[in-house]
Amino acid sequence: MEIKDIKKVACVGAGVIGYSFAVNFALKGLEVGLYDINEEALNLAKERVNTSLQLLIKNGIINDEESEQIKKRIIYTTSMEEALKDALFIQESGPEHYDIKHQMVTEMEKYVSSEAIIASSTSGLLITEIAKVAKHPERFVGGHPYNPPHLIPLVEITKGEKTTEENVLLAKEFYQSVGKEPVVLNKEALGFICNRLQMALYREVCELVMRGVCSIEDADKAVTFGPGIRWGIMGPSLIFQLGGGKGGVDGIMHHLHDSITLWLNDMADWKEFPEEFAKIARDGVEEAMKNRPKEIGNDDASLAAYRDDMLVAILKLHGKL
Ligand SMILES: NC(=O)c1ccc[n+]([C@@H]2O[C@H](COP(=O)([O-])OP(=O)(O)OC[C@H]3O[C@@H](n4cnc5c(N)ncnc54)[C@H](O)[C@@H]3O)[C@@H](O)[C@H]2O)c1
Repeated sequence: MEIKDIKKVACVGAGVIGYSFAVNFALKGLEVGLYDINEEALNLAKERVNTSLQLLIKNGIINDEESEQIKKRIIYTTSMEEALKDALFIQESGPEHYDIKHQMVTEMEKYVSSEAIIASSTSGLLITEIAKVAKHPERFVGGHPYNPPHLIPLVEITKGEKTTEENVLLAKEFYQSVGKEPVVLNKEALGFICNRLQMALYREVCELVMRGVCSIEDADKAVTFGPGIRWGIMGPSLIFQLGGGKGGVDGIMHHLHDSITLWLNDMADWKEFPEEFAKIARDGVEEAMKNRPKEIGNDDASLAAYRDDMLVAILKLHGKL
């Protein structure tokens, strides 16, 4: 199979991730079979597709006519057979439990084309384990998106013990063809790359707040207007390359070595979030919301709308929309 042969994709599971992948694929001109187990889930998915397309219209990414074309490319169905018919790439986004993923694998293999690749959106389950009930485990990869996948370009590709290199490469090429930025993990790792990075940072947020060094609101402000604004442009190693002056990134490691060692020794290294932190984080978020003007989001809905408008602006700068 070649990537140009893929004209139709199936999205199996039409929840938060599945509907959003469907928007991504249809936006790039592919037909999409969007499957879920009941009509109710599909109706919600349709509403979410419409809302996402409205956001893209509002931001000048597509016009009304294009939006109508995109809608027509998505077939909503409770028939696995119909969803998978002629699809050469399957994005599975069902619930995060091995037993349900196994049922889905068995069901998908009844109808899937013999050439198709099956990618799981799983946030942390092992592909080896998901594909253990498969007749063709070699065609299974992990294709872990970041929410919402129709806006965030990253997909972390993982492989199981039996996944072939050829299928990993095809998955990578496919994701590139629909505007994603795939990163292939050389070996399986819990939490992949980005969830580990996010949790390393958030552990330190917790540590600073619990020690009384700063509030949740100020930790967020520090990230948003400090390193976060730079990370939206390039990764931490390239940022340190510039921060190291002539010495570059290794210059930083040498030059600040003694100081960095003191910080590292003082930083959190515990393995479980303290139980009381959940409430502290919730109260801190509520306080931060109160202090924000409506235009930049001060409840969940307005915050999500602000996030998506800003994401679109940044993605345009990156040439990704
Ligand atoms: N939500 C996130 O931020 C996020 C980010 C990255 C990856 N993921 C992963 O994506 C996957 C889906 O997560 P979600 O947030 O979209 O969950 P969700 O609960 O919103 O959606 C899951 C959908 O699967 C459907 N479903 C249940 N049983 C099914 C079956 N047997 N066959 C087909 N569909 C079935 C449900 O009806 C539901 O619509 C999970 O593996 C999750 O770990 C989620």
